Amino acid sequence: MTQPKISSNRLIYGCMMIGGSFDGAPLDMEQRKKGHAAIETALECGLNYFDHADIYCLGKSETLFGEFLEQNPDLRDKLIVQSKCGIYLRNQPEEGFPGRFDLSFDHIVESVEGSLKRLHTDYLDILLLHRPDPLVEPEEVAQAFDRLHRTGKVRKFGVSNHSPAQIELLRAFIDQPIVVNQIEYNPVHTVLHDAAIHANMKRSHYGNPGEGIIEYCRLHDIRLQAWGPLAKGVLTGKSPAQDAEPRIRELIRLIERLAKDRNVSREAIVIAWILRHPAGIAPVVGTTNPGRLRACCQGAELELSRIEWYQIYTTAMGHPVP
Ligand SMILES: NC(=O)c1ccc[n+]([C@@H]2O[C@H](COP(=O)([O-])OP(=O)(O)OC[C@H]3O[C@@H](n4cnc5c(N)ncnc54)[C@H](OP(=O)(O)O)[C@@H]3O)[C@@H](O)[C@H]2O)c1
Repeated sequence: MTQPKISSNRLIYGCMMIGGSFDGAPLDMEQRKKGHAAIETALECGLNYFDHADIYCLGKSETLFGEFLEQNPDLRDKLIVQSKCGIYLRNQPEEGFPGRFDLSFDHIVESVEGSLKRLHTDYLDILLLHRPDPLVEPEEVAQAFDRLHRTGKVRKFGVSNHSPAQIELLRAFIDQPIVVNQIEYNPVHTVLHDAAIHANMKRSHYGNPGEGIIEYCRLHDIRLQAWGPLAKGVLTGKSPAQDAEPRIRELIRLIERLAKDRNVSREAIVIAWILRHPAGIAPVVGTTNPGRLRACCQGAELELSRIEWYQIYTTAMGHPVP
């Protein structure tokens, strides 16, 4: 079976918002134009890895991407198309139902069928379980993965927002390797490695849900991907909230200064900070603004020093390392 291609760029394009909005409004011409421009900019920047989920813009993001693939039939086998399953948003499928997770056999298989249809493709390169489900039956996940793999509908499997213990449980049952764990990570959301510098500190202060994720994934060849890499723009031009903490304002100033010194965009500094981690964490960049996307891609060309990395990290924490 063909293996997923290696991206020519270290960044992944996050397609969450290309469908415009999480509502029932149909895709209109303006949204299609904007979404297609974002995909084209990603391709021009050398990105060939696209991240989706069944729920993004209630399916509209996959639909828009599928239309783009249909119009560009030579493209599919040059791309890595990843999608996710396992979340039901509130009021789905019926009014009054709570938001919830569902990693049952039926939901995984049905979700992939829906994604394939919307994306106009016969296969996903990678399927991620979007969030851990407390009610997960790992045997059912294994059956679903077997079915999807055997029928050629999914080539590789991964997870998102999963702890080492949750991945270990799945690995004990499934035959296919887990190749990805997609986690929130940016200079103001450093749960991933906070535990690494606070080993042997008082747990009450630093008890950390990210403990061991990086180390576990590195040991088991599970590629880490960073969602939310721009922290929604708060470090790169979007006005901080009125009540933003002094450490955030100082971090914004530091990023501005580093960008000026290096003659690059602020986005490039933030992306380069993520890429500086030796685990090879791949930022999943979700901007739909072509200029901002190009600004992010500058980050792939930039190597931050150890000093610069720690300056950003300690400023973001608001205190020095122990
Ligand atoms: N696995 C998961 O649980 C999970 C969760 C969330 C997201 N994801 C994936 O990760 C990707 C990225 O996530 P994200 O969208 O949260 O990340 P992000 O890259 O941190 O934020 C992008 C968002 O911030 C806005 N933004 C960025 N810079 C801005 C600025 N200077 N001023 C105003 N707005 C600015 C963008 O708007 P513009 O479009 O206008 O630039 C866009 O809405 C998603 O597309 C999705 O593929 C995964």
